[in-house]
This record gives sequence, structure tokens and C-alpha cells, in this order.
Amino acid sequence: MSKSVEIRQLDETELSLYCEHLMRLDERARWMRFNHVMDDAALQAHCLYLAGSGTMLIGAFEDDTLRGVAELSLSSDHNAPIVEMAFSVESKLQGRGIGSSLLKTALTIIWPAPALVVCRNDNIAMRHLAERAGGRCEPADDLLFYRIDTLYAIQGKAQAEPRTTAADQRQKLKPADTAYG
Ligand SMILES: CC(C)(COP(=O)(O)OP(=O)(O)OC[C@H]1O[C@@H](n2cnc3c(N)ncnc32)[C@H](O)[C@@H]1OP(=O)(O)O)[C@@H](O)C(=O)NCCC(=O)NCCS
Repeated sequence: MSKSVEIRQLDETELSLYCEHLMRLDERARWMRFNHVMDDAALQAHCLYLAGSGTMLIGAFEDDTLRGVAELSLSSDHNAPIVEMAFSVESKLQGRGIGSSLLKTALTIIWPAPALVVCRNDNIAMRHLAERAGGRCEPADDLLFYRIDTLYAIQGKAQAEPRTTAADQRQKLKPADTAYG
């Protein structure tokens, strides 16, 4: 990855930067990111929703412009806490390691909770990233659900048992000085 790319957490004042970044994604990238068609209004609605959700955003800035984001949210669909991650990198910067760096940073932040990445089965780049992190894949229709053991991904060791609670993770994803809403 280029040395001029800075990876850091976004704060609540930077949601508009995220919205602008999402609106710079082309049609295919939006489809791959959200698994359905997203026009600009839908992207704005998504960002408005984030303002009260406790979602954490990790950004990749190049020359002070936000070009890539990992969106981390605590999933309520599981008994054990699991952090759902979704990634976006603008087309002209894809293939330069930004997605890999965002994933690595995100896994370090959410550890020891496991991660869930959902992508389309024709999303070669995301599948590559998730599988390189040791993600275990469960297919469902045209989607793939990758469960990533963070300890394994970071240290190469299997995690014996969950060592975190949903409350722990909510706290971690919504630190006092960076909460969105
Ligand atoms: C998926 C995405 C985030 C990856 O970001 P990125 O910055 O391009 O990722 P990286 O540069 O770290 O590359 C990821 C890996 O996939 C590989 N890859 C990328 N495109 C590929 C392709 N078409 N075929 C095969 N491998 C590919 C890269 O070679 C790299 O592997 P390597 O490090 O072993 O060489 C980016 O492509 C994206 O934003 N896509 C649109 C939105 C999306 O699909 N989001 C994921 C849904 S959650």
C-alpha cells in the first residue's frame, strides 16, 4: 500500500465524508458493496441511519480524501456477538492493498469478537480477502457468509471459545468520543 494512505477511525463529524466516498463508487462497486442497487438518495439514507446506530467506520485517506472504508456493526442476528464488516474502496485505488489494510485494522480493533463478511459469490477480491484471513464460508443463494476468527486471522491460532460479550462489543464499537449519535 502507498505510504501516503492513512488508516484511521472516523469520528462523528466525518459521516459526510463517508457519504461522499460512497457516492463516488461506480454502479458495480455499489452493487458489490450493498448487494442491491443503490442510487445517491439510498446512500444518503444509509449514512443518515448510521448517525444513530453505533456503527464504527475505519477510513483510508489518500491526500486527505477518504477513498476506502470498513463499516463495522454489531450483528443482532446471532446469540454470540459477531461484528459484521463491509468494505468499499474507490475503483481507481483498488488492487493496491487498501482493502487488506482496512481488514487487518478492523480485525485488530474488534478482537476477540469474531467477524462476519457477507459478499456476492462473484466478488473475487472480497472472497480473496476473507479467505486469506481464514474466513469459513457458508453459501446461501448468490451470497457467501464468511465467519472470521480474529485470533486466527491476527496470530494464526484458533480461538478456543468466545471471550467477549455483546455488551463488550457495543462499548468497543461506540467509544464515547467517537459515537455517531
Ligand atoms: C473488495 C474491495 C474492498 C477490495 O479492496 P482492494 O483495496 O482492492 O483490496 P486489495 O488491494 O487489498 O486486494 C485484495 C486482494 O484481491 C485480489 N484481487 C483483486 N481483484 C481481483 C480480481 N478481479 N481477481 C482476482 N483477485 C483479485 C488482489 O490481488 C488482492 O490479493 P493479494 O493481496 O493477494 O494480491 C474492493 O474491491 C471494493 O471496494 N469493491 C467494491 C465493493 C465491495 O465489493 N465490497 C465488498 C463487500 S463487503
